[in-house]
Amino acid sequence: MFHRFSRLSAAVIAAALLCSCAQKEGAPLSSGDSAATLPVTEPTVVSETVTTQTEPPVTTAATESAPPETGAAETTAALGYTIDALSAKMYATDILNVREFPTTEAKVVGQLNVGDEADVVGLTSHGWYQIRYDGGAFFVKAEYLSSEKPAETEEELTIPENYYFASSDDYFFVVNKDNPLPEDYSIETSFVQGSYEMEIVAAYNCRRMIDAAAKDGIDLKVLSAYRTIKYQENLFDRNVKSRMEDDGMSYEEAYADTAVNIAPPGGSEHNAGLAVDIIDRNHWDTYTDFENTPEFAWLSENCTKYGFILRYPKGKEDITGYIYEPWHYRYVGAEYASAVMNSGLCLEEYIG
Ligand code: DAL
Ligand code: ZN
Repeated sequence: MFHRFSRLSAAVIAAALLCSCAQKEGAPLSSGDSAATLPVTEPTVVSETVTTQTEPPVTTAATESAPPETGAAETTAALGYTIDALSAKMYATDILNVREFPTTEAKVVGQLNVGDEADVVGLTSHGWYQIRYDGGAFFVKAEYLSSEKPAETEEELTIPENYYFASSDDYFFVVNKDNPLPEDYSIETSFVQGSYEMEIVAAYNCRRMIDAAAKDGIDLKVLSAYRTIKYQENLFDRNVKSRMEDDGMSYEEAYADTAVNIAPPGGSEHNAGLAVDIIDRNHWDTYTDFENTPEFAWLSENCTKYGFILRYPKGKEDITGYIYEPWHYRYVGAEYASAVMNSGLCLEEYIG
């Protein structure tokens, strides 16, 4: 997917420069903000054999919320197919799209990578598996799942020609309240987990990091990754509103409190596609006690190997402008990550 930066409201950025006390970041987020749905138009194919239709590459924006679970063994005759209940662990044999409905015309809600495990709950009469995914039930083409786990291969990273980031050094820059993204900022994204996406190089390294953690028995859960600028704007505004309505703050108090938790639109590393918020499987929100989990310990030990740094450390709040965020990791590239983390400086200080 291709994303180009859009012009910001100077007023929004200027207003967000206000800072004060802390609270946690908002409700669970999703990377995208599209909400289009498609009707099921798949013809009736009553057969156990898989179709020969080929799966296109993943290109569609992520969705914010999962559709209602259809449930296995459900008869969907009205939709032109039926689903037989299944209960099996299977593995992706290729990179494949996870779709809202069992047709290649349906919206892509995420991606499975080679070797990813799928919790299969049904098989449609026209050759699609229904799987549990990202809290819902979705569909993948049956020909791309196998009960045999494929041999491990290193995923290849392909960078488009004339890409915005010309070299690995180019990822080493500051995005913050004073340094919003340039107007010509443009990236491609790919999925990291579920429907969450990041810039392609950051995403590739984030996937490697999550896989490496899993091998060590550490289950990293992505709570937020790439956000559009519009999404960031809504997130910021929603937070101001909820602090006023739920916490009884004045507008100025609510604004100041939001501004130390959430970046202004265009001034967020999430808008750059270079930040990921990670928590553990038992939580559905960011929380400061994440620092006391095995997941945080693993990240502290290993994130730099994959080019990530803890971006908003404890004790640097006055410089970063944000509360301590043990969940927020920024891709800067492996060449710099350990030097920054070992220096004890935050990115603003290190880059100067
Ligand atoms: N929570 C961080 C600062 C962001 O919104 O980008
Ligand atoms: Zn974050």
